Amino acid sequence: MKGIYILANILLFIIILPKYLMVHSQNALKEPLATLWNIDNEDIPKYVNIEKNLSKVDEILKPFLDNDNFAGTSIDVIQNMVFVYTLNFSRAEQIKNLIEIRPYVNFLNFTQVINSTTNLNSIFEKISNSVKNYKTMGFTGYVSVKVNNIVIASCDEYKNNPGNSAFINAIKIYYPIFTYYYCSQTYNNPPSTSNTMLENRNNLDKIMLTGEGINIFSKIRRSKTTCSAGFLARDRDQQSINYIATAGHCRVGPDDFYYFRPWNSDRITDLGTKSINFLNLIDFQLIYINNNNIKPKPSIRNTDAGPGQYRELVIHDDIAVTSIGAHLCSSGFVTHVKCGYVETLNGFNAFEEIFHANVFVVGLLTIIGDSGGPIFSYHEDLLRVSLNGILSAGFSDYVIGGISSVATLSSIFDIAKNISLVIAD
Ligand SMILES: *[C@@H]1O[C@H](CO)[C@@H](O)[C@H](O)[C@H]1NC(C)=O
Ligand SMILES: *[C@@H]1O[C@H](CO)[C@@H](O)[C@H](O)[C@H]1NC(C)=O
Ligand SMILES: *[C@@H]1O[C@H](CO)[C@@H](O)[C@H](O)[C@H]1NC(C)=O
Ligand SMILES: *[C@@H]1O[C@H](CO)[C@@H](O)[C@H](O)[C@H]1NC(C)=O
Ligand SMILES: *[C@@H]1O[C@H](CO)[C@@H](O)[C@H](O)[C@H]1NC(C)=O
Repeated sequence: MKGIYILANILLFIIILPKYLMVHSQNALKEPLATLWNIDNEDIPKYVNIEKNLSKVDEILKPFLDNDNFAGTSIDVIQNMVFVYTLNFSRAEQIKNLIEIRPYVNFLNFTQVINSTTNLNSIFEKISNSVKNYKTMGFTGYVSVKVNNIVIASCDEYKNNPGNSAFINAIKIYYPIFTYYYCSQTYNNPPSTSNTMLENRNNLDKIMLTGEGINIFSKIRRSKTTCSAGFLARDRDQQSINYIATAGHCRVGPDDFYYFRPWNSDRITDLGTKSINFLNLIDFQLIYINNNNIKPKPSIRNTDAGPGQYRELVIHDDIAVTSIGAHLCSSGFVTHVKCGYVETLNGFNAFEEIFHANVFVVGLLTIIGDSGGPIFSYHEDLLRVSLNGILSAGFSDYVIGGISSVATLSSIFDIAKNISLVIAD
């Protein structure tokens, strides 16, 4: 009997091992950017460099494109191309022959579209104004240059909400592309993150990286929510005061208590009760860290990466992406680190009576507890990153994927004027 039992154990081991290796090599050891671009880890720096070059070409080109003969541009790193959405090909020929553009024509692909930027922007403005008239359960809207139309995203579950259906009806006349996600799918079954093994980081509950969890409790309401830490900030004139940024909608009641909660851990550490919330203007709040034992670091947690590799991504600067199709990545408590493509640099988010303009929209599947986490782009060395903003909202399911919107750093610092971002020295 005993022999059979051991044999069964060995068989089990043999059966399980390849599966474990597969999961490990495909998810855990592949860097998020390699997953996005479907390339090997060692090729990432080359493709980051290609992206940088394409963004540069895109920046040189854009001032020559008028809004009537064109409808935007996007970059494609894998094809090493800048796509130029074009209505008028004789105008395109003239632009190709400009001395400023001639060196780059091999990187340009002029693609035929029907709606001009002027046309799309005017409809987009009408839709943006319309949504302000309704109390909805949530919409993200933007001009998609790739589909040459306006995209309006929401949850399928919200369709019958009176505000939602009234808004949908009001804008039908513009024929935007409605995308409805089965949001409860991802909410009830968050994607499993690969590294749920015990951490052996020292002082796990003392050193706080961004992307880790923030628990918010209200004793009066007896409820709690989890969000993610976005970045470290300080008062410009009082450098000793540390704040951790997160999304403004991460709140429960007037008596909120904030706690730090690392990934893969149930241990929580007190952060205090003080926060400045900017939700009416932007999805942003600053939690005052009232605990000297907490050591916040201006780095992003990426501990699902291979051993010793890029486990802490250093926030080096706040240079924002400028091209549609560039990569942006998120780090959050629920889905950890992943990357997607920029869909727009100028979308809106509307929920209840709140309207936030100028959000970035990224093709990223994120989930509720990820809110507030950092949104960033990689430098070529994969160790340093540029912080672009924090995660504000998202819609997702396992069929369509997901989109996430980003409160940008520039719009945050337009409003919270007396704070500065803490970056690594
Ligand atoms: C990027 O541009 C630089 C300068 O033009 C060039 O030397 C380099 O080879 C380009 N890199 C890639 C990956 O295309
Ligand atoms: C297309 O571009 C050419 C060259 O700039 C211009 O002369 C022509 O008027 C444009 N056509 C339309 C329909 O705008
Ligand atoms: C432009 O892009 C389209 C779609 O990817 C492709 O079919 C076409 O061959 C490209 N043209 C050039 C000149 O690269
Ligand atoms: C864009 O073009 C498509 C196809 O002609 C059309 O159905 C759609 O309504 C247009 N969208 C806008 C905003 O003009
Ligand atoms: C900014 O300045 C105001 C007025 O001096 C102050 O009350 C506030 O605490 C400061 N910090 C933040 C993050 O707003």
